[in-house]
Amino acid sequence: MAPRLLLALVLWAGCLPCSGSEAPTQSRVWCRAFRYPIAVDCFWTLPPAADSARPASVIATYRLGVAAHGESQPCLRPTPEASSCTIPDVHMFSMVPYLLNITAVHPSGSSSSSFVTFVPEHIIKPDPPEGVHLRPLHGQGLWVQWEPPRSWPFPEIFSLKYWIRYKRHGAARFRQVGPIEATSFTLRAVRPHARYCIQVAAQDLTDYGQPSNWSLPATATAALGQEQGLSRPLPLPATYSKADGT
Ligand SMILES: *[C@@H]1O[C@H](CO)[C@@H](O)[C@H](O)[C@H]1NC(C)=O
Ligand SMILES: *[C@@H]1O[C@H](CO)[C@@H](O)[C@H](O)[C@H]1NC(C)=O
Repeated sequence: MAPRLLLALVLWAGCLPCSGSEAPTQSRVWCRAFRYPIAVDCFWTLPPAADSARPASVIATYRLGVAAHGESQPCLRPTPEASSCTIPDVHMFSMVPYLLNITAVHPSGSSSSSFVTFVPEHIIKPDPPEGVHLRPLHGQGLWVQWEPPRSWPFPEIFSLKYWIRYKRHGAARFRQVGPIEATSFTLRAVRPHARYCIQVAAQDLTDYGQPSNWSLPATATAALGQEQGLSRPLPLPATYSKADGT
């Protein structure tokens, strides 16, 4: 018994250098639901195969539930070389997670699998809102308008809420407002003449998943409004001029 244990330890220890000398980067596999509930899209990066210049071929499959006997379906790839695939029919509010299996088959015949498990609602992350534009309102701040991301299929059913962040040119940090359940908003606390950079992010209304990245920035100069007009250099009050003159 003891020699066998020793042998096992030697073999185990003997394997350490091989695992240590493998390609430095790990496989990375992740999925994101940016077009919930139509599909879930998954992506991967594989470390370069140590033994060959030829790329590994990849088998991408998924199943609902992690049980080994579950039936796997192919995760659909746009091209055989693509390092992304699509799970086309999303089981909403599933009690069991999906399991994605990305198996790289190396030219030598060896293979290695990477897995990711997820519940679609938890990996919702919309694309950023689009078409952000601004209009200075005379005396009333900046009017911001945007559109939901085009990739979000049913904004009327699966509503999004939004966050705005804005920064005056030269200011150190952004200010943020939200959540906003509309696709426009008026920023009132803006300085006249100041140039503002504004970005919008979208998030599932019911807080599933994560907010989107910030949109591309839009910029505008806050208008000189009627009230703000008072901040122009004023003609000296008559009384003051008189006092000055004396
Ligand atoms: C992952 O996929 C590979 C290739 O289809 C398969 O051989 C392997 O059994 C799968 N692993 C699991 C845990 O389902
Ligand atoms: C969001 O931003 C991160 C970091 O800048 C970037 O890596 C990622 O690709 C972006 N994702 C989307 C969906 O735009």
